[in-house]
Amino acid sequence: MALELVLLFVLGTISLLFFIRRVLNHTHRVQHLPPSPLALPIIGHFHLLGPLIHRSFQALSFRFGPIFSLRLGSVPCIVVTSPKLAKEFLKTHELSFISHARSNAIERITYDSSLAFSPYGPYWKFIKKVTVNELLSSHSVNKFHSIRADEYTRLLRLFSERAESCRAVNLSEELPRLCHNVIGQMMLGKYSTAVLSNTERAEEARLVVREATRIFGELNLCDFNMVWKKLDFQGFGKRIEDTHVKFDDLVENIVNQREKLRIKNNKMNEGEEDEKEVKDFLSILLDMLEDESGQHKEVGFSRVHIKALITDLFTASTDTTAIAMEWALAELINHPIVLEKAREEIDSIVGNGRLVEESDGPNLPYIQAIIKETFRLHPPVPMVTRISVEDCKVGEYVIPTNTMLFVNNWAIGRDPKYWEKPLDFWPERFLEHIGGGHTSGMDVRGQHFQFLPFGSGRRICPGINLTMNMVPSLVAAMIQCFDWKVIPSKKLNNDDVVEMDEKPGLTTPRAHDLVCFPVARFNLLNILKP
Ligand SMILES: *[C@@H]1O[C@H](CO)[C@@H](O)[C@H](O)[C@H]1NC(C)=O
Ligand SMILES: *[C@@H]1O[C@H](CO)[C@@H](O)[C@H](O)[C@H]1NC(C)=O
Ligand SMILES: *[C@@H]1O[C@H](CO)[C@@H](O)[C@H](O)[C@H]1NC(C)=O
Repeated sequence: MALELVLLFVLGTISLLFFIRRVLNHTHRVQHLPPSPLALPIIGHFHLLGPLIHRSFQALSFRFGPIFSLRLGSVPCIVVTSPKLAKEFLKTHELSFISHARSNAIERITYDSSLAFSPYGPYWKFIKKVTVNELLSSHSVNKFHSIRADEYTRLLRLFSERAESCRAVNLSEELPRLCHNVIGQMMLGKYSTAVLSNTERAEEARLVVREATRIFGELNLCDFNMVWKKLDFQGFGKRIEDTHVKFDDLVENIVNQREKLRIKNNKMNEGEEDEKEVKDFLSILLDMLEDESGQHKEVGFSRVHIKALITDLFTASTDTTAIAMEWALAELINHPIVLEKAREEIDSIVGNGRLVEESDGPNLPYIQAIIKETFRLHPPVPMVTRISVEDCKVGEYVIPTNTMLFVNNWAIGRDPKYWEKPLDFWPERFLEHIGGGHTSGMDVRGQHFQFLPFGSGRRICPGINLTMNMVPSLVAAMIQCFDWKVIPSKKLNNDDVVEMDEKPGLTTPRAHDLVCFPVARFNLLNILKP
C-alpha cells in the first residue's frame, strides 16, 4: 500500500514537473515573438484589419515598429516593414520561410498543385523548371514574340477605330483581355483559338479566369479557423466549388480536344515532324507525359497537373500584368510633364515611322523608370506572403513553425526613410546622373529589398521576364500613338485627372475602371499594318 502511494506521488510530481516545464517553455517562446497588439478571444486581431490589408498593416507598423506579430483567427502571423528585415527573412532565412501560405480556394481551384503555392520540394522544383524553361525564360518569351506583336496591333487598331468615331475605351476590360489572349496563346497555341474561337466561349473563359482571380484575392475567413470553415458564413465554399467546376470544364475541354487532335495527326503523318509551327506549352507538356522515361515520373507529374498548371498560369498572369499597365497609364495621364518627357524619348529613339516594339524596351530608360516608379507605388504583389516550415531564430525573436510572414512591399515603397518624396510620382529617382542617388541603379529582380515588386529569391515571380517585356513596350506604344482624354469624374473637381483609389485584392487592382477617349496623335494607318 505504502509503496503504491509513494509510486503515485513520484509519478504525480514528475508529470507536474513536465507540465510546468512545458508551460514555461511555452511562455518562453511567446516572449520571443515580436511585439503585438492586444488580441480578442477567437478572432485574434481580425478586428484591426480593414478591407485594404496592406494599409491596415502599415498603420499598425506606425504603432508597433518594423516587425510585429498578430494572430488572425488561429493563425500566428508576423508583419515586416523594413528592407533590412525583409532581407533577413527572405534571404538569410529563405529556407525557413520558403513555402507560400495556401488558401482553401487556391487548393481547390488549382487541384492542390499550384506552382505559386506548392510547398517547396521536388514537385515544385520540377514544375518551376518546366514552366520557366518552356514558357517564361527569355528564350521562350522571345519564341512567342509574334503572338504578342499581333495582339498589340489588334488592340491599337481597336483604339484607332474608337478614336475615329470618338468613342471611349474601357481599358479595365481591354488590357486584361489582351493579357488573357497572349498568355492563352502562349500556353495553348494559336490552336486555342479553335476552342476559344467563337467569341462566346472565349468570353466565358475570360469570366471564369476573372472570377477565380477575384476569389484568390479575397480574404476568406475560413482559412483562419477550422470551425469557421464549417460555418462558412461568407458563402465562399459554394463560390469556390462553382468556379472550380467551370474552370475544370474549360481546361478539361481544351486538353481533351488537343489529345484527340494529336492522335489524329499522329495517324496522318507518321514520323513526319511539323517543323514550322512553334510548339506551345500544352504540346510540350503532353509530349512530356508520353515520354515513358521522363523525369516527370519521379515527381508523379500527371494529366491533372497539366490542368493545374494551365489554370494556375492563367490566373496568376492575366490580372497582374493588366493592372500594372492600367496604373502606369493612369499615372502618366495624371503627370503630363512625365508623359511629355516619355514621348520625347520615344520620338528620338523610335521616331513615328514605326510602332514601339518589345525590342526597343532596353533602349528606353525613361520608360523603364516610369514602369519601376509605377511598381513602387502600386506593386503587383503588395505583400510577399510566406509561411515558416520550421522554427527559426531571427535576431532576438524565435518564430515558430507555421507562422505566416507578410513583407509589406507596399508600405516600404512609400516610406520616407527609404525614398525621397515617397508619395510623388517621380521616375527620375531611378535614373542615373539625374536625381536618383542611391535608388538610381535599382532593378526589379528582388536584390534591392526596399523594392520587391515581384518578390525575391527562389520564389520570385517566374513571369518577371514576360511582364518586363510586355508592360514597358505596350504602355510606350499607347502613348506613342494616342493622347488619352479622361472622362470627368464626379469625385475629383478636375477634368484631366483620373482617380487613383485601390480596391481590395491580392494584386491591388484599381478601384475605378479606367475609361478614356483615345485621340490619335498622327495618321496611324502607316504604322498599324493590317
Ligand atoms: C520547448 O519548445 C521547443 C520548440 O517547440 C522544443 O523544440 C523543445 O523540445 C521544448 N522543450 C521542452 C523541454 O519541452
Ligand atoms: C529572365 O531573364 C534573365 C536574363 O535573360 C535571366 O537571367 C533570368 O533567369 C530570367 N528569369 C526567369 C525567371 O526566367
Ligand atoms: C469596364 O469593364 C469592366 C470589366 O469588364 C466592367 O466591370 C465595367 O463595368 C466596365 N465599365 C464601363 C464604364 O463600361
